[in-house]
Amino acid sequence: MKMLIKGGQVVDPINRLDQVLDVLVIDGKIAQLGTDLNQEDATVIDARQMVVAPGLVDMHVHLREPGFEEKETIATGCAAAARGGVTTLVPMPNTRPTTDCPEIVRFIQNQAASTGIHVLPAGAVSVGQRGQQLTDFTALKAAGVPALTDDGLPIQNMALLRQAMFQAKELGLPILDHCEDRDLVQNYSVNEGKISVQLGLPGRPAIAEALQIMRDVMLAEDTGAHIHICHLSTKKGVDIIRQAKAKGICVTCETCPQYFMLTEEEVLRQGPLARVNPPLRTWEDREAILAGLEDGTIDAIITDHAPHTEAEKAKPLPDAPSGMVGLETSLALSLTVLYHSGRLTLTRVLDLMSHSPAALLGLNKGCIGIGDDADLIVFDPEQEWVVDRDQFVSKGRNTPFHGQTVRGRVKYTISMGKIIYQEG
Ligand code: DOR
Ligand code: ZN
Repeated sequence: MKMLIKGGQVVDPINRLDQVLDVLVIDGKIAQLGTDLNQEDATVIDARQMVVAPGLVDMHVHLREPGFEEKETIATGCAAAARGGVTTLVPMPNTRPTTDCPEIVRFIQNQAASTGIHVLPAGAVSVGQRGQQLTDFTALKAAGVPALTDDGLPIQNMALLRQAMFQAKELGLPILDHCEDRDLVQNYSVNEGKISVQLGLPGRPAIAEALQIMRDVMLAEDTGAHIHICHLSTKKGVDIIRQAKAKGICVTCETCPQYFMLTEEEVLRQGPLARVNPPLRTWEDREAILAGLEDGTIDAIITDHAPHTEAEKAKPLPDAPSGMVGLETSLALSLTVLYHSGRLTLTRVLDLMSHSPAALLGLNKGCIGIGDDADLIVFDPEQEWVVDRDQFVSKGRNTPFHGQTVRGRVKYTISMGKIIYQEG
């Protein structure tokens, strides 16, 4: 199996490569990089005017299977990933049953095996995500989980979380924490502030995120564990993490396009489509997230791809489920807002979406060196297109970006040297 990708601008964040080159792939690995390469019996991809980059690594995705197949299946979620240029993803454990034991981890791995996407399920921290008893971290690690999390239902009990951190540290696994104090946010639907007041609804305050990040950072310092803060949404949170990193505490974090693009006002325009946990925040928060991406405080861009059915999202704001899909739009949105605006370099955007999350999970992904896995994307960085939810291959149509013009279009997604998505 040979593939020759000719004449693309090869961008590899970690090998500091940004150069027009041919890429030769043999048996699923990068075999050669150079100019004017030729190879008999290779599939040839014409990548002129295109960028060739590592396949994206999305470390925070909800695939919904087992248990919620009406929202998404592993097959449809992985097809959406391929269309968006994502070749490696980490599904969250809030399935039914929850991913809290090796059997469910293996079920997900088996379902994903034929998709071409590297699916590495995160294990739950607590049995049933109930926050009472820790899962068997050793068994979960042996089954292949790259991280532990109770995403969506963060652990409130500090003794349990501290114990989890000691064990996770021993095993070299990060804990991914959705930081919102549950007493402060209840099941409220919007940010606490002018919009919640205007709508007459109780809100989820920014301090609910900041308090838990502060708690986690202090526990990480105390235990030496690696804590990774999920989908950062507030200025306070960015500030705490920036300071913690300066102190040398082992903390990393991620954010999503919705937090550097949208603000709470979106709820007035789009209602439940703009409902997400943590909620869309203020303009100041959005600016702080952008600043965190610029100065390296934020380590990864993820989607938090959270498909829901149209019927569920048609409910009134207080009753509709939280979340938005993202796999098919994240690259284009990130390129549009971060790269084409001149805020971040192309290399930095691609690093945030590939090598950087891979590295913090200890995965050898997101690089284009000789011998590396040939997980690659070929995209036109300039092509404009309009987000159309009816074109999604995900079962989820719940995007707040429908109708938006974006710039940057995936042409090919390649996993282990095989084309798993080709435009058109
Ligand atoms: O908006 C969200 N949706 N946030 C979460 O933490 C969970 C997710 C979901 O599972 O739908
Ligand atoms: Zn979450």
